[in-house]
Amino acid sequence: MNEGATGPGPTGNTLWHGRFEGGPARVLMDFTASLPFDVRLAACDIRGSMAHVRGLARVGLLTAEEEAAVLDALEQAGAELADGRFTFVESDEDVHTAIERRVTELAPEAGGKLHTGRSRNDQVATAFRLWTKEAMLDIAGLTMNFQHVLIDKARLAGEAYLPGYTHLQRAQPVPLAHHLLAHAWALGRDVDRLLATAKRLNVSPLGAGALAGTSLPLDPVSTAVDLGFDRPFTNSLDVTSDRDFVAEALFTLAVLGVHLSRMGEEFVLWSSQEFGFVTLDDGYATGSSMMPQKKNPDIAELTRGKTGRLIGNLTSLLVTLKGLPLAYNRDLQEDKEPLFDSYDQISLALVAFGGMMETASFNTVAMAAAADDQTSLATDLAEILVEQGVPFREAHAIVGGLVRDSLGRGVPLSDLVGGHPAFPDSVAFLFAPGAAVSRRASPGGAGAGPVAEQFKQIEADMARSGSRLRTIAASLEPSD
Ligand code: ARG
Repeated sequence: MNEGATGPGPTGNTLWHGRFEGGPARVLMDFTASLPFDVRLAACDIRGSMAHVRGLARVGLLTAEEEAAVLDALEQAGAELADGRFTFVESDEDVHTAIERRVTELAPEAGGKLHTGRSRNDQVATAFRLWTKEAMLDIAGLTMNFQHVLIDKARLAGEAYLPGYTHLQRAQPVPLAHHLLAHAWALGRDVDRLLATAKRLNVSPLGAGALAGTSLPLDPVSTAVDLGFDRPFTNSLDVTSDRDFVAEALFTLAVLGVHLSRMGEEFVLWSSQEFGFVTLDDGYATGSSMMPQKKNPDIAELTRGKTGRLIGNLTSLLVTLKGLPLAYNRDLQEDKEPLFDSYDQISLALVAFGGMMETASFNTVAMAAAADDQTSLATDLAEILVEQGVPFREAHAIVGGLVRDSLGRGVPLSDLVGGHPAFPDSVAFLFAPGAAVSRRASPGGAGAGPVAEQFKQIEADMARSGSRLRTIAASLEPSD
């Protein structure tokens, strides 16, 4: 235990010193400070503060000279923060306090007016919404890059096919392209959710004050426009304490993580000797400190493993929020680390797994050999009987009996089918490698025709997402 922990804290003034005779205990600052993590909000705080200052000037609460002085000071503080020259002091409780303190040092008179009509409650909510919007767009961009990798791999896969599985038991052969596109479609829904989250959170809290707005003539509409928000808040109590947007962002990232985790699990299986469906590039595999022969899929495993954290971060925030009365409570400071962590982990996972996917080689011979297992043709055989007019339930029973017989007596299924009176002679074709896949034509199904159609649809889907992303990203550019 640190001896001095309960002793007196920093000597500099806190934001609230007027009301207090004594200064803060050191442990109060240690326990309540958020600077170590919310320093990441610096650029967003500066943007929000600049918009606030311009807003104050527009309604006459700052003169043009005061406006210029505070904007210059904010710009300088922002530059110092960006290049690491900014000197923090002990009483800097969070990045917002630090910036206001620095502005007041640089512009002693006018700086004291920066916080007019503002509370850290609307200030923090504003900065965090700006940060989260950008984060959602970053991850959407990285997710689309991953989709491109999957689509390129799917194109390269050509006619290759592998067993499709249910219950991890061989079910029916499917094109490798269809399998890879399945993952790309899941990521497409993630992109959709990321953009919808960015859009829904695009509401400005600035002007809500601590919880009740202000008696000063602020104009939240103009600051909302200045910051690229779609509109200002309509209820000050709600917007200062609402963290739905953080929960939604965490959920969206957790689902994305779950999708990557499922892909990770597949890569772990596929790169095993038992499957042998994929060979990882040396740059994206690890070795063992003891077993010289090992080549391990650590990126896939960690992608799977880190998903636990993503789910935990979502759970942690929801539990933080569930008992909070209106409006702001200090508990809300716990909203940031989960999202920063989920953002960091998923960004790295998308890039690392994307690189692993891009450089991996699929062993299509091993895939085909596994898929050419004749019993995987059972459903297609039953469908051939249906084409002959046999009711499906009866066809299912006939083929099931032949499979049982084949496995029991060790006779190839093709021999038994060839000798069975219910099948037409043309059935022999089905046993040619890949024939089952080539026959499948139902829309969205695992056949060459539907897969060709999917390439068109997913490209169109991605083009739509790309233009939505660019529209929202344009709102990040300062308006003046
Ligand atoms: N660092 C704090 C947070 O992120 C700032 C808000 C403090 N507000 C207050 N009313 N004490 O929530």
